[in-house]
Amino acid sequence: MSATFHHLNIADVRRETADTVSIAFELKAENEADFKFIAGQYLTLKADIKGEDVRRSYSICSSPSQGELRVAVKQVEGGKFSTYANTELAKGQTMEVMVPNGNFLVEPNAAKSGNYVFYAAGSGITPILSMIRSILETEAESKVFLYYGNKSAEDTIFKTQLDELAAQYSNFKLTYILSREDTGESTTYGRIDENKCSHFYDADLADLKIEGIYSCGPQEMIEMIKEFYISKGLLHKVHFELFTTPVATETETVDDGVSVDSQVTVIIDDEEYEFELSTDGPDILQAAQDNDADVPFSCKGGVCCTCRAKVLEGTVKMAVNFALEEDEVANGFILTCQAHPTSEKVVVSYDEF
Ligand code: FES
Repeated sequence: MSATFHHLNIADVRRETADTVSIAFELKAENEADFKFIAGQYLTLKADIKGEDVRRSYSICSSPSQGELRVAVKQVEGGKFSTYANTELAKGQTMEVMVPNGNFLVEPNAAKSGNYVFYAAGSGITPILSMIRSILETEAESKVFLYYGNKSAEDTIFKTQLDELAAQYSNFKLTYILSREDTGESTTYGRIDENKCSHFYDADLADLKIEGIYSCGPQEMIEMIKEFYISKGLLHKVHFELFTTPVATETETVDDGVSVDSQVTVIIDDEEYEFELSTDGPDILQAAQDNDADVPFSCKGGVCCTCRAKVLEGTVKMAVNFALEEDEVANGFILTCQAHPTSEKVVVSYDEF
């Protein structure tokens, strides 16, 4: 994947909650094909903020059939990009945007039907709104369940849109769980935890054949849901996306005692960059950047998948991987921001899909 950014005009900035805006981009005929997306994907945005090149990935909240390309950005404390987006962006401005990416997806098919289960916390709703809308619009016979945790009704991003979908589609069951606003029910008051997960499973899901389980939110919730569905023998149905970089994962090195001095070749847009790198040195992404390769990245924490590339020769180790599926790893794909060479020669290409 090339690191190419496209200049897109901002068509609309809409305030969703006190700390979240959604941003829609204008697509011209010449970049419509590049920005075709699958429900669940994200965009990487780039801005020059006080002289610093800042990049962040944000999930697309619109569905492919809506004819709109819109992301949601929640302001996080001290967040450079999210503060900029919430306070300075306006309709008519131009922003640098990378083409849609990511493999936390649903691809609904009108000929299919199934039972889909979603868990979201806070801004984790963003890709899930796109996925849910996409399923409801396409698969008339499918059932969709959403368990959505927030502090309060006021903090609930896309509450209006979700309420409208629930009113429009009888096959969509929407459950809000609030942690700081007493709902009067123990099952919907508090955080999404194992007890709630178990309660909703017994009440709604136990008798159904589940097509897919999708969760987006903090690591703790995702791990809990994964463990819960392991206990139900349904791990193969679980898909997830972290919306934050987990703590203490940034550019960890791989330490199993052996360090190899490697000759690394990085291929991007048919250009080759060669450099020496040892296992205990920087990650391949960083080393490629140090050698003037314009390689794609965003989170640098093993979460977003923007830095995905394929190993064509040799072996590498990843410090963490929160983004690639098992079959991608089996096929040689790596997160270069987490990868360190473990053989004397390594060839990595960003041009393979
Ligand atoms: S830059 Fe996000 S996973 Fe590597």
